[in-house]
Amino acid sequence: MANKVTMTQFLIEQQREYPGTSGTFTMLLNDIVTACKQISHKVNRGNLIGVLGSAESENVQGEVQKKLDIITHEIMVEALDWTGHLAGMLSEEVDEPIKIPPQYPKGKYLVLFDPLDGSSNIDINLTVGTIFSILRCREGVDAEPEDFLRKGAEQVCAGFVLYGPSTMMVLTTGHGVNGFTLDQDIGEFILTHRNMTIPEDTREFAINMSNQRFWEEPVRRYIDECVQGTDGPRGKNFNMRWIASLVAEVYRILTRGGVFLYPYDSRDPKKPYKLRLLYEANPVAFIVEQAGGACSTGRERMLDVKPQSLHQRVPVILGSKDEVERIVKYHLEG
Ligand code: F6P
Ligand code: MN
Repeated sequence: MANKVTMTQFLIEQQREYPGTSGTFTMLLNDIVTACKQISHKVNRGNLIGVLGSAESENVQGEVQKKLDIITHEIMVEALDWTGHLAGMLSEEVDEPIKIPPQYPKGKYLVLFDPLDGSSNIDINLTVGTIFSILRCREGVDAEPEDFLRKGAEQVCAGFVLYGPSTMMVLTTGHGVNGFTLDQDIGEFILTHRNMTIPEDTREFAINMSNQRFWEEPVRRYIDECVQGTDGPRGKNFNMRWIASLVAEVYRILTRGGVFLYPYDSRDPKKPYKLRLLYEANPVAFIVEQAGGACSTGRERMLDVKPQSLHQRVPVILGSKDEVERIVKYHLEG
């Protein structure tokens, strides 16, 4: 183990450096890590243990659930509800906040999570992930729905785990962003990517082009100018990627820069946006800002959005700062 820093060691060292971070918080993160290791194992075993495919049910969002959406949700709840660190949880998979069972003590944190992001990728063996956000709460009470409706700027921690060729956790507690790789041999996350920063110069964008005819003018303009390459106003060629897994796109941007957009579109007036504010947009916005990038709705900094409802959706534009600022400028001009 010489020279290897485990996540536990990293968290304890960080706790010493920032006296505000309590031991409780470190224990809570450890419980999340334990859940994510279990999820990693299930995702990795796939059809050997019969966890792939549809569960033939719908979640609160009206989306068809995969078996693994349900299994991963249950893993998260079972790993966290008994610990005494939480006043409640919110999951993409259930309508109401999850209460702490009466036999367990209640704590001062809230965990909000998407247990299996990008789950449309699971049956084709591509990268999926778990996203989580931690908020502080009034202590010792059962959290009410309003307790979760807080601006992203109030998050004390955000992270995501990627189940890809390697299982990785990316984490911020508001002091930069660090990446850890799961060492399967010893079952520990090891610090492998210290102080991740988003490269400023980028020539890569990510957007689902099949929605092009439903976009607003500022987004059309931006993408149009990228696609024109050296013949257009940007004077350089751009590359495009679309993995359809937010965690994987954000990880790519943290590694080599770029910009990601899931903007407003007019396909379905009942569903003008795709991504959820509280457990998708906010945690990735916190991470992206901490890595030197930016995240906006196009008209407002993501972390300043005042949530109106638990499963609210928002337009998301994130990545290299200059590009995000350019897109915001196009929105303000439009
Ligand atoms: O959770 C929603 C999500 O799966 C994201 O991970 C991803 O970025 C997006 O939806 C993909 O959307 P679409 O299927 O429209 O390309
Ligand atoms: Mn998701």
